[in-house]
Amino acid sequence: MKGSRLVVFIVAVMLLASAQAHSQSPPAPKAPAIAQTCVACHGPKGVSTTKDTPSLAGQPDIFTQYQLVFMRDGQRQPGVMQGIVKILTDDHIRELGAYYAALPPPPAFARAEAVDADKANAIMGPRRCGNCHKDDFSGQGETARLAGQRPDYLIKSLKDFRAGVRRGRGMGAMMEVSVTLKDEEIVLIAHYLARKP
Ligand code: HEC
Ligand code: HEC
Repeated sequence: MKGSRLVVFIVAVMLLASAQAHSQSPPAPKAPAIAQTCVACHGPKGVSTTKDTPSLAGQPDIFTQYQLVFMRDGQRQPGVMQGIVKILTDDHIRELGAYYAALPPPPAFARAEAVDADKANAIMGPRRCGNCHKDDFSGQGETARLAGQRPDYLIKSLKDFRAGVRRGRGMGAMMEVSVTLKDEEIVLIAHYLARKP
């Protein structure tokens, strides 16, 4: 027992030393240890390179916290995150919310199709997307950042809201605005938003 505690202590000291050795480069927010388990899918700096998997960098703190609580408590289907969300404590969730909010947001998703901005605005304007998500789509509070998000994930999430698979915050506002969207409109606005810096 004593031996294994000593090993844990030595490893902890080594990790601390290597973290300090790297701290010369520009100040990056300190990743909570639990964030290591997220990297494989959401990317090392919260910018996803995996299809249907969202980037988390630059999301509002509260938005990330709510989504993790929803997935842990069953209001949102956790899918492949099922095993991980179950072990998250409230403290983990607070740390993760603050961490991802402090990371630089994803750059514009250059591989998304260039679409006609007038067409995108004609779909989004009457539905007042910018009122909640902000005019630059950087998100606020419980409302997601959309700018630079992967288009495949934006399409998936809009279809989930439209089908009522995901309800979300804000009195079901997302179900209401998405229910009248056609497939091709969803694809168009997803590509438009993904290319926003
Ligand atoms: C095995 C891959 C995988 C791992 C590991 C993983 N996630 Fe996810 N995560 C996903 C996928 C896929 C989704 C999209 C689920 C959906 O389509 O609704 C997601 C969604 C999310 C969302 C919702 C974001 C949004 O924009 O709606 C948050 C927040 C999140 N993950 C945080 C985390 C955190 C924090 C960890 C580590 C503790 C983690 N994830 C680990 C695959 C993963
Ligand atoms: C009344 C406020 C409101 C309006 C209007 C609104 N949204 Fe949302 N949106 C939200 C909130 C709140 C969430 C977070 C939902 C949740 O908790 O799952 C959200 C989530 C989303 C998501 C999921 C993002 C993610 O990372 O999981 C997408 C995509 C989205 N909105 C797109 C749109 C589009 C496109 C429009 C216009 C057609 C729109 N929203 C209009 C409030 C709004």
